Amino acid sequence: MTARVTRTQVGIIGAGPAGLLLGQLLARSGVDAVVLENRSREYVEARQRAGVLEHDVASLLRELGLADRMDTEGIEHGGIYLQFDGERHHIDFHDLAGRSVWVWAQTEVVKDLVAARLAAGLALEFEVSGTAVHDLTADEPRMTYRSADGEQRELVCDVIAGCDGFHGPSRAAVPAGLLTVSERVYPFAWLGVLADVAPSTDELIYAHHPDGFALHSVRTPEVSRLYVQVRPEEDIADWSDERIWAALQTRLGLPGWTLHEGPIREKGITPMRSFVAAPMRHGRLFLAGDAAHIVPPTGAKGLNLAAADVVVLAQALVAWLVDGDERLADSYSDTCLRRVWRATHFSWWMTSMLHTPPGQDPFDARLQLAQLRHVTSSRPAATDLALRYTGQPLP
Ligand code: FAD
Ligand code: DHB
Repeated sequence: MTARVTRTQVGIIGAGPAGLLLGQLLARSGVDAVVLENRSREYVEARQRAGVLEHDVASLLRELGLADRMDTEGIEHGGIYLQFDGERHHIDFHDLAGRSVWVWAQTEVVKDLVAARLAAGLALEFEVSGTAVHDLTADEPRMTYRSADGEQRELVCDVIAGCDGFHGPSRAAVPAGLLTVSERVYPFAWLGVLADVAPSTDELIYAHHPDGFALHSVRTPEVSRLYVQVRPEEDIADWSDERIWAALQTRLGLPGWTLHEGPIREKGITPMRSFVAAPMRHGRLFLAGDAAHIVPPTGAKGLNLAAADVVVLAQALVAWLVDGDERLADSYSDTCLRRVWRATHFSWWMTSMLHTPPGQDPFDARLQLAQLRHVTSSRPAATDLALRYTGQPLP
């Protein structure tokens, strides 16, 4: 069967936050792109994932005209609580860092990005299959795929952006031996739930507990998002709603404070790993977001790193494809990896400080508590956390 051949400047694989945001940034500078997604629109708009936007990522959405709903329905948070040893301490981001974060779910960001792309008549195809990339080191790399209606297609590009997440085909297309992978798999996972109950807290609570970590996050004034540390091999079927609420009550509970319970609408288990693949470029293929790196969710960096990558990538591609200057494209990987490794360190640090590994050594438990006490009692240490949580300035 012969393929229908079309052309674009940037072929983007993946309609997650990285791919969609890259598409918007390129469109703003007049660079043409096609976004291909193997899932349905309904699926990508419903997938429950991250919930916290760094200060500058929220500002970027505003600058792109994509923050009307965030500004009315999202919630600005000026700090977090760290809880340990029966005490709850507030880390005040406004006071310490002069910055804040926005609690605005990734699914909502994706909905707005999809709507903006379709409203502007920009190319976005859902439910494609068999996406493959070819000729990555030639002047005209190609993507082949089958459209939702079954037609075989070929897309000839100037560059390809692999924004296809951890399991997508882009990173796998880099020849063996050219990528260096740094990886750590943690001996725990997060069981996350979405519950129809008003949040019991005004700001997120990160709780250290001998039974394991717990996090109270929020979605809307009527919906809470909560997480408990579980074993990675845990079967979700073994976690009844009663068991989940009991674990949350134990780990988040404090005298004089009530965790309100409600119907659990959705639940799932996410394993935790740190992963960095370098370099983030091979020929005319550029990797961005989870396609190149994964952080454990403690610290809420995954979505924000994906946004930072595509800001750098959009600048590089506009300089190259519009002005003929390839220097930013040449430095893309190094520029991104500096931020990626800082976020990898922050996420590893938050994870190590807050989780209880199976069979934890009592000495390590004391060290965790000493670290938490330091962060919550030393202004320089709290300021460092506040600056890192609210995020480095975007390039
Ligand atoms: P993705 O969002 O994964 O987007 C990649 C897109 O590519 C997807 O839409 C996928 O369907 C598509 N794709 C894949 N293969 C193909 C193909 N062959 N052809 C076409 N399209 C393809 N971060 C946090 O900070 N806090 C959290 O609580 C949190 N929870 C998470 C829970 C889960 C289950 C996961 C997987 C991630 C979580 N993250 C969290 C991380 C955060 O959501 C990611 O860092 C973020 O989604 C990265 O965006 P991305 O666009 O790079 O990748
Ligand atoms: C959420 C997720 C995180 O990983 C985090 O650190 C804070 C909040 C959330 O889903 O709301």
